[in-house]
Order: sequence, then C-alpha cells, then structure tokens
Amino acid sequence: MLVVGSGGREHALGWKLAASPRVDAVYTAPGNGGTENNVPIAADDLGGLADFAADRGCLTVVGPEAPLAMGIVDLFAGRGLRVFGPTKAAARLESSKEWAKEFMARNGIPTARFGAFGEPGPAHRLVDSLAEGGGVVVKADGLAAGKGVVVCGGADEAHAAVDRMLVSGEFGGAGSRIVVEERLEGEEASYIAMCDGEAAVPMASSRDHKRALDGDRGPNTGGMGAYSPAPAVEGEETARAVREGVIERAVAAMRREGCPFSGFLYAGVMVGADGRPSVLEFNARMGDPECQPIVMRMDFDLFEYVEACAEGRLASMPPPRWLARHAACVVVASRGYPGRHDSGGEISGLDRPPARDVRIFHAGTRREGGRILASGGRVLGVAALGDSLRSAVSAAYGEARRVSWPGSRMRSDIGAGGPAREGGGLSGGS
Ligand code: AMP
Ligand code: GLY
Repeated sequence: MLVVGSGGREHALGWKLAASPRVDAVYTAPGNGGTENNVPIAADDLGGLADFAADRGCLTVVGPEAPLAMGIVDLFAGRGLRVFGPTKAAARLESSKEWAKEFMARNGIPTARFGAFGEPGPAHRLVDSLAEGGGVVVKADGLAAGKGVVVCGGADEAHAAVDRMLVSGEFGGAGSRIVVEERLEGEEASYIAMCDGEAAVPMASSRDHKRALDGDRGPNTGGMGAYSPAPAVEGEETARAVREGVIERAVAAMRREGCPFSGFLYAGVMVGADGRPSVLEFNARMGDPECQPIVMRMDFDLFEYVEACAEGRLASMPPPRWLARHAACVVVASRGYPGRHDSGGEISGLDRPPARDVRIFHAGTRREGGRILASGGRVLGVAALGDSLRSAVSAAYGEARRVSWPGSRMRSDIGAGGPAREGGGLSGGS
C-alpha cells in the first residue's frame, strides 16, 4: 500500500491498513516522524508518486485534498494504477464551494440558502437581505486550508469579509469567487462514507472541535480534537436523513452527472432543533482529526473495503463492524497554531508504550537521529477508546499530558458538548 500525505489522518489510516493480514507493507509519502517506510516524495509530486506506486505495485490511498484537486486519481487511473480517492471532477465537491452548493441545490440536498458571486455589489446586497433574518457566513470558493470561512456575527462583519475576499484579494485565487449563505444554528457532526462510485458504506459518526481555544473560542483550525460517535446524528431519523438524503443522494447524482464519486465522502452537517440535517460542507477525503477516533473503533479489515472500492464492488461487502465503545482524540499542537508558531522542539514522553486502548498518532513531527521533533502546527493526536465518552476523553488526556515539548499546548475541553447526551447514541456491531 502507498498512503499519500503526512498528517495524523495518514498515520491512522496507515496503522489500520498495516494491521491487515493481506498487506505486507505500507509506504507513506512523504509521511512524518511516526509513520513507517517513509518515501521522500511530496504529496503534490503526482508523477513521482505514480512512478513509485507503479514500481512497487501499490494500491494507493490519498489522504489530503490538494493532490485530489490536482487530479492524482485521474493520473493514476490513466496509468492503470489502483487508487482509492475521487477524480478531479468528483473532488469539486470540496475544491469549489460554489460548485458544491449548486450541486446540492439542483439535487435537493438540504443546505443553507446562498448566492455565489465574483463581484462585491450583489454579494453585499445578499448580505443585507440575509442579515435581516439572522447571521451570515462568507466563504472563499476555493481550497483555503480551512481558513476561507468567516462565520459572521452581524452584517458589518460580513460586509468586511466580502471586501477582504473580493476587493483586497486576501485569499488569492481561492477567494476570487465567494459564497454568501445564511448562518445555521444547531449541533454539528461529521458524517463520512466510503464510496466506490455507486455504493456508499457509512463510517462511524464523529465530531471535531475546530476552534483553537477552550469554549469554542479563537480562530478556526484544522481541528483540535474529535470524538466518535457524535450524538447529533445517531438518532434513527436523523441518521436516515443523512444517509439517504445526503450521502446516497449525492453519490447517485454524481454518477448521473458523469463524475461518479469514489473515495471517502465527508458531509459536515448541522442538525437543527427539529433533528433535520443540513450540509455545511462536503469534503472529498477523510476528516483530520475525525479519522483518528474512527479508526480506533474499526472492528474490520480496512484494506478489504479500500480494495473493494478501488475495484467497484463495495455493494458486495458485508456491513463493517464497529466497536460498541467511544473514542476520543486530543490534538497536541504548537503554541500559536493556527498562526505563527515555533518548531524544532524535542518531544519528550514518547519512549514508553502508551496505555492499553490508547494510541499516539503523529502529525507535524520528524525524526532526527534518535529524537522526535515538533515540526508543524498540529503535532500529535492522542486517541483512546473508553466505555463512555468521558472515559475515552480522560484516557486520551492522561496520555496527552505525558508528552510535551517547549511550546506544546492542547485544548482542555475536548468532548464537551457530548457528555450531556452521553447516555444515548452508541451503535455498535454492524
Ligand atoms: P466549512 O469549511 O465550510 O466546513 O466551514 C467551517 C466551519 O464553519 C464549519 O465547520 C461550521 O462550524 C462553520 N459554518 C460553515 N457554514 C456555516 C453555516 N451556514 N452556518 C453556521 N456555521 C457554518
Ligand atoms: N476536521 C475537519 C476536516 O478534516 O475538514
């Protein structure tokens, strides 16, 4: 196997794939200080990755969005290489918010009311009209590493966001077109499915914590922690509404429109007080850090499902089995992330094996001699299983507090928002 990427998601996927009796080696390109068999090829060097996969006969799993949006799957498929991920056309669900919103609108997939603009005038007019009824969200159309979304308190903030994107060009090409939409209220969850272009198999539900600071304050990040399951989408009716009305509807429509979706399809949803889900965003890949608690709960051979997707026979696979337990992941980051932060500090506490049911997934780390250094914003993801959300969270924190470097920090409230509803929401077995 070849796993493309270098984050916690890729470490977690590689770990689970390596556990398959049918996998003899997992290479990671370029990988990090925790992944095995690193290959020094960048995730955007598509030709180099294809040469490597061809040489070793790898089945390739693509982690991050950038190579998908560049067309890595099209290139691999054109060369007859087996690969799990969406084509460039299918990855538009993530790479263009305007395209994704219009796709949802024409296919009856529930989402916030919106308009898409390349000129500020009409964008400001929609801000004014939406602001009469509530909050407004302004989004750069293209990929902006999670930073291109401004959730606005009032009209002034939204007008300023429109101008920062369309007039000052703060987001470069990614913000040359924008989406303006109504702000939704409710409880968020991540609902991710494996797809082969025709069938979709849901993964365990999850939720991430996007803001940098406790109490959901501070700037948006890639994610400071996550847990699974997410009570918001575990109720029977809500789960069905997401599975049928969002995921299956999207997969059928992508196929009908000539760009079948293969890979991990990620729907970020907001569940309103009435239990109805609305799509905030699609991603064309696994979530990070959602992947970490999700793989902890996998009670099946991930390789078998990846292979089935790559070969277009997912519908013939039995439903995957999930541990009827809770999982949580606490991200240990560099102080200052997502803004400027130091790197290069030596991480201590990694030399002992973690407690049972706990795993440390690396993200921004690198090896130097026998040492492991912090080399990024999100550095480690400490994931743990427990019989309740509270016990999973407490096991993850217990281990996370044993690792540190000068300038390490973490949120102290991962899992908050869940415990109140902790009694419900566990679906184990198949
Ligand atoms: P996105 O990159 O589109 O997922 O947006 C990042 C985050 O912004 C989401 O996880 C939500 O927390 C928030 N968000 C995006 N769209 C909306 C919306 N229409 N209403 C409320 N919050 C939103
Ligand atoms: N954790 C959010 C994402 O992967 O997009």
